[in-house]
Amino acid sequence: MANVLITGISGFIGSSLARGLLAEGATVRGIDNLSTGNLANLDEIRSRIDLREADILDATAIDDACRGIDYVFHQAAIPSVPKSVIDPIGTNGPNLNGTLFVLEAARKAGIKRLMYAASSAAYGENPTLPKTEAMLPEPLSPYAVQKLAGEHYLASYTRVFGLETVALRYFNIFGPRQDPTSQYSGVLARFISQMTKGETPTIFGDGSTSRDFTYIDNVVSANLTVAKTSAPVAGKVFNVATGQRITLLEAFEEVKRITGYTGTVEFKPEREGDIKHSVADISQAQSVFGYEVVASFSEGLEKTIAYYR
Ligand code: UD1
Repeated sequence: MANVLITGISGFIGSSLARGLLAEGATVRGIDNLSTGNLANLDEIRSRIDLREADILDATAIDDACRGIDYVFHQAAIPSVPKSVIDPIGTNGPNLNGTLFVLEAARKAGIKRLMYAASSAAYGENPTLPKTEAMLPEPLSPYAVQKLAGEHYLASYTRVFGLETVALRYFNIFGPRQDPTSQYSGVLARFISQMTKGETPTIFGDGSTSRDFTYIDNVVSANLTVAKTSAPVAGKVFNVATGQRITLLEAFEEVKRITGYTGTVEFKPEREGDIKHSVADISQAQSVFGYEVVASFSEGLEKTIAYYR
């Protein structure tokens, strides 16, 4: 599948993509500043990757990294709603300017197609469910604005410069190697890590908040398929999810069942910037480029808990 560049390669999603792309026979280059990523995520594939430790705002390093590349998978970001609420300006650099730097380098290098880790956070407070790509975005947190603004830059680079770009709006991705250690970590990674150790997890809100929790294999498959497709995807936005809505309380119960946790859960007030409900309509990705849900929430949870154990 030729030469690929993954930004944020040592992160949870970037390192999973690296495994998927290597398995397809791609030559993989990666860039990461190790701010939220972890080299251990690349352990057994490290020798097969051209890994470059550099910041996404280092234009020279990004230009160099894009040279000779066919496909770019831009995953580098500070992927946290609460962090963006605490530091809107600091997170805007990597999340938005970083995307612009990657687009500019990709344009100059004449790459074939760029895939971007967009976010379902873009839908924000729009109460309509499920979320379709045709809906007007209503971003709530600075993070959501940064990710959505990145999509607009992608569309602009397609229209103005003819660079093929695709924005994949990820819905709450989870799976092995997701960092559970920070207060900003994804809720499932936190639940699993805490409950396997017998620690009490926390639910922000009353537990009715819902998400379309999407197992990582679906994301890898979506990226590989959309990169190769001859369907008209350039300049478009697609939801990547399962189409199934799970509440935080249901997620807690399911993790409890699989781990055998016997304790309780603590309820705390909702976090600022959090959206209430999220579930995707995935029909556009299915019909345009043949996206398929390769692993359900329950299958993914079983695999993830087995990994953390
Ligand atoms: C997540 C991603 C974000 C992505 C978005 C796409 C993470 C860290 N964030 O944001 O990058 O763009 O999905 O939809 O993966 N919660 C608890 N207890 C906890 C932790 C969180 O109840 O211990 C709650 C939160 O308050 C929130 C929900 O769980 O209501 C989901 O939070 P989180 O996993 O951080 O994800 P999102 O903010 O949805």
